[in-house]
Amino acid sequence: MGFTIAVDGPAASGKGTISKRLARDLGFGHLDTGRLYRAVGRRMLDGMEPVEAARTLNPEELDDAVLRLPEVAQAASRVATIAEVRAALVDFQRAFAARSGGAVLDGRDIGTVICPDAPAKLFVTARPEIRADRRWRELVAAGLDVSVDSVLADIRARDEQDMNRADAPLRAADDAMVLDTSDMDVETAIAAARRFVDQVR
Ligand code: C5P
Repeated sequence: MGFTIAVDGPAASGKGTISKRLARDLGFGHLDTGRLYRAVGRRMLDGMEPVEAARTLNPEELDDAVLRLPEVAQAASRVATIAEVRAALVDFQRAFAARSGGAVLDGRDIGTVICPDAPAKLFVTARPEIRADRRWRELVAAGLDVSVDSVLADIRARDEQDMNRADAPLRAADDAMVLDTSDMDVETAIAAARRFVDQVR
């Protein structure tokens, strides 16, 4: 079994960017587990029953562009409260984590539920206003017409839902390194994450 890095945190905290770079620089695989929930949320918006959607999901075939939409993120957060949906996605995530050659998984419950034995756990966070500004810039750059206030409202609503659900709520594992990226630029945050990984590796 390869080395697993678990990266959790709220929306637009920087966890995706950090995970991608760690994986690239270390030659590890990377799984953005939010995409699985977004894909299930998307299928629910198309009229499918969420548990059925999760059980029949083909994680290899996810269409990226649509999954980025804010309404899909909201739907993802809603389906993510359903225990049967989460259960249906566990095996794929654990199999990915166990692949030889190492893996970085990012999400909300990787260090607490999916890979509780991961040797390296990071909890990446930032103040909500900063996260909203980052996500807003990304969405505008992708051609979406959204206001920063609506993005902040979406982020607060998802934080609330993700932290307060009964099954696998968003929280830092006891043995996670907490990295607040509010006042860091991207390279500083990546370097801090890398230093931590190198210490435990
Ligand atoms: O990370 P991202 O913002 O794409 O995730 C979308 C939603 O999917 C989150 O708001 C959360 O409700 C859910 N999610 C989860 N567990 C994960 C990853 C994402 O519940 N491991």
